[in-house]
Amino acid sequence: MTVLVFGANGQLGWQCVRDLHAAVGVKRERLDASRASIEHELVSLLDRYQPTVIINALAYTSVDRAQQEPELAFRINARFPGLLAKHAGNALLIHFSSDYVFDGHSSQPYSESDPTAPLSVYGSSKRAGELAVLESEAHALVIRSTWLVGEHGQNFAKTILRLACMRSALRVVADQWGVPTPTPFLSTQLETLIKTKPSISKGLYHLVPEGETNWYRYACYIIEKASQHPRWQDRLRIKATSVEPIPTQAYPLPAPRPLNSRLDCHRWRQALGVTHLAPFETVLDPVLDRILVQEPLDPSEH
Ligand SMILES: NC(=O)c1ccc[n+]([C@@H]2O[C@H](COP(=O)([O-])OP(=O)(O)OC[C@H]3O[C@@H](n4cnc5c(N)ncnc54)[C@H](OP(=O)(O)O)[C@@H]3O)[C@@H](O)[C@H]2O)c1
Repeated sequence: MTVLVFGANGQLGWQCVRDLHAAVGVKRERLDASRASIEHELVSLLDRYQPTVIINALAYTSVDRAQQEPELAFRINARFPGLLAKHAGNALLIHFSSDYVFDGHSSQPYSESDPTAPLSVYGSSKRAGELAVLESEAHALVIRSTWLVGEHGQNFAKTILRLACMRSALRVVADQWGVPTPTPFLSTQLETLIKTKPSISKGLYHLVPEGETNWYRYACYIIEKASQHPRWQDRLRIKATSVEPIPTQAYPLPAPRPLNSRLDCHRWRQALGVTHLAPFETVLDPVLDRILVQEPLDPSEH
C-alpha cells in the first residue's frame, strides 16, 4: 500500500508524510503543478507508485497575491486537482479545500450543503478545484478545513510570535471567527479514515477541531503561551493583555476574508462514527510547544 502525498513540503503535506503509514511525499522539484504540460509526468508518477490513497495538499495559498495572479492560482488549485481526479484510477483521492469558498455572511457554522460564494480569486480557484474533483469519476473526498497551523511551514502562529518579539504594539482583527486546525489533528483523522473507513462515501466533508475563536483571541492565546515559556520570556516585547482588537475594516488587505469561517463537521463525525472531535486547544497546544522550541523563527534575530 502507498499513500502518495502531493505538496509534501507544505504545512499539511509535511505532516502527512511524517505521520501516515506508507506515505511517500511528492515535492515541487519532482512535479511543478504550474507547468502547462504536466499530465504525462503525472500519469508516469501515478503508474510508478500505484497509490492506494492520494492526498492532495498541494495548493497555491498566497491569498492576497492570487488577486494579481488568477491564472496561476487556477492552474494549481483547479486544473491540477482535476488532473489528479482524472488519473486517480481505483485510488481514494483526498483533496483539501478551504472555508474561503464561502462569503462568511452566515451567522451559523457552514455545512457541506450551504451554497458557496467565494469573495476572492483564491476562494474561487479552490471552489473550481472542488468541482473538478467532485464531478469526476474518482472515489474522491474533498475536505474543507480552516486556519491551518503546523510546526513545518508558515502560519499565523509563527507570524504573531515574530511580531511579538519585534513590536511593542500589535493590532489584530477580532471580527473574523473560525478555528485553528493543527496539521497533526488532520493527519490523525486521515490515518483513522484510511485504516477504518476506506470505503467512505465520495463527496464533500468539513473537518476542523471543536470550538471557535477569532484572530485577536487566537493571537492572545499564542502570546500568553509563549510568555509562559522560559526561552521566550525575555524575547517578547508585548503582553497578551496589550494586544489591541480591531475590526476587519481597519486592516484592509487585497483579498477580502470571510467573517464567519466556522464549519459544521457533523457529516465527518457521522462517517467516522465518532460523537466528538478534539477541542482545538487540546490539539493546538502540542503544536505551539513544538513551534516555541524551534530556533530561530526569524533569521534576522541572529
Ligand atoms: N493554510 C491554511 O490556513 C488553510 C486553510 C484552509 C485550507 N487550506 C488548504 O489546505 C491545503 C494545505 O494547505 P497548507 O497550509 O499546508 O499549504 P502550504 O503550506 O502553502 O503548502 C502548499 C504546498 O503546495 C506546494 N506548491 C505550490 N505551488 C506548487 C506548484 N506549482 N507545484 C508543486 N507544488 C506546489 C508548495 O510547495 P513549496 O513548498 O515548494 O512552495 C507547498 O509545499 C491546501 O489545499 C489549502 O488550500 C489551508
